[in-house]
Amino acid sequence: MKKIAFYTLFSIVTYFLQAQSSMQITISDTSHQTISKYIYGHFAEHLGRCIYDGFWVDDNLNVPKKDRIRLDVVEALKKIHVPDLRWPGGCFADQYHWSDGIGDRSKRPQRVNTTWGMITEDNSFGTDEFLQLCNLIGCEPYIAGNVGTGTPQEMENWIEYLNYNGKSTLADLRRKNGHDAPYNVSFWGVGNETWGCGGNMTPEFYADQYKRYATFCKDYPGTSLKKIASGANADDYNWMEICMKKIPVQEMWGISMHYYTIVNNWQHKGSATDFNEQEYFNGLKNCLHIEELINKHSAIMDKYDPQKKVALAVDEWGIWTDVEPGTNPAFLYQQNSLRDALIAATTLNIFNNHCDRVRMANLAQTVNVLQALILTDKDKMLLTPTYYVFDLYKYHQDATWLPLEFTSPAYTFENKSLAAINASASKDSNGVVHITIVNLDAHNKITVNASLQNITFKNIEGEILTSQKFNDINTFQQPDKVKTTSFSDYKKNGDKLSVTLPPMSVVLITLM
Ligand code: AHR
Repeated sequence: MKKIAFYTLFSIVTYFLQAQSSMQITISDTSHQTISKYIYGHFAEHLGRCIYDGFWVDDNLNVPKKDRIRLDVVEALKKIHVPDLRWPGGCFADQYHWSDGIGDRSKRPQRVNTTWGMITEDNSFGTDEFLQLCNLIGCEPYIAGNVGTGTPQEMENWIEYLNYNGKSTLADLRRKNGHDAPYNVSFWGVGNETWGCGGNMTPEFYADQYKRYATFCKDYPGTSLKKIASGANADDYNWMEICMKKIPVQEMWGISMHYYTIVNNWQHKGSATDFNEQEYFNGLKNCLHIEELINKHSAIMDKYDPQKKVALAVDEWGIWTDVEPGTNPAFLYQQNSLRDALIAATTLNIFNNHCDRVRMANLAQTVNVLQALILTDKDKMLLTPTYYVFDLYKYHQDATWLPLEFTSPAYTFENKSLAAINASASKDSNGVVHITIVNLDAHNKITVNASLQNITFKNIEGEILTSQKFNDINTFQQPDKVKTTSFSDYKKNGDKLSVTLPPMSVVLITLM
């Protein structure tokens, strides 16, 4: 009896202590660093239902379309200001031959997508269709060239087809295919995951291959290519070291790094919807690990490139769970919960706060694959909780980064802890300040007391993304369960601002 009374008392005390949890944060307008809009990029591969049956649908599907491009999907992406879209892979990029995907669709060859499910690739969506998609979204294309099974000649030809404005057989072919003006594609990936599906190379071999292929990636008049080397898998620091040592800094715009948040392990990743607090906590912990990866890769890059000319392009990231039961395992179709939105928001805060080096990132993968922004089912479409994070964070694109200083309270589960709060802030060209704050704690609200240095404002607005349970999702039956709403739990007192975040929430504060 005594024991029960003690625990009851303990729980009540803990509840009140936790309920009053608060922290200080200082936000200062002292930097000239820009948060590159390309941190907010996306990725679309010929994988499962991302391109086919996602962006590019059957002629008979009853949705608004331009050619076969689904316009409700395009509209949703325009709204969040997608800055660039990476294509055609992924692993698929190193088996893709661009000339298969141009010209009369009825004559295009049928290939097998050996990477993703051994299904027929009919090549109906190719280069001109992709550029049309980018044009509709209003984003820049980022093409990943084929190093694994392609030749430097093939890569050179592709760029000539895309970017040459003069008279040549390939430029004329583009004109014949309906595009008179050059496309001016500048972001160019020289291979993908060349340490794995892109050719199982050593870093020494790849660095030489990079130099060979990059030699033939020409800058046609009007377009300077931004070449991106295929970089490290997660914590493969040796890969970064060798590439940075062997490839001259002026020969690349960026070098990539790929990191996926896995909850358990690659064999048993865990369900996207049916998970407990242990798995919630693990997912967050593994997501936060990306900051260590960025710090360590950046330190290596600093040795060879102290002026930070080369961008770290995190051109694949996001949570990777088990596929939805009953779906093709090779199609990587997963649902998307509040947890995944918190993971996106946290990762974007980390990228923003490392914007001196991280100048591009691409979430995997826009529609129906992995941590998707959009899920479709025939003519239906839903926006995932992750979509709403990109909607809240769009104001950071190309804004001036504002440094933050704070120590977060801990979110403790069993005997492990992580920082409950993460945040980032920026000032846009009109002087409007946007602060995005995430509370990862599954149970406790936290008050953030902000001291604002050199920041003046008259009005405050707030928006929030939260839900009752960490595994809440949007479904085709209930598409609006997890979405942003307006938020008013803040107080201004002189130059101090206090904001109280409920558990498991992402808050956007706008100071005007
Ligand atoms: O995004 C799915 C796959 O993950 C990509 O094709 C590959 O680059 C990575 O391993």
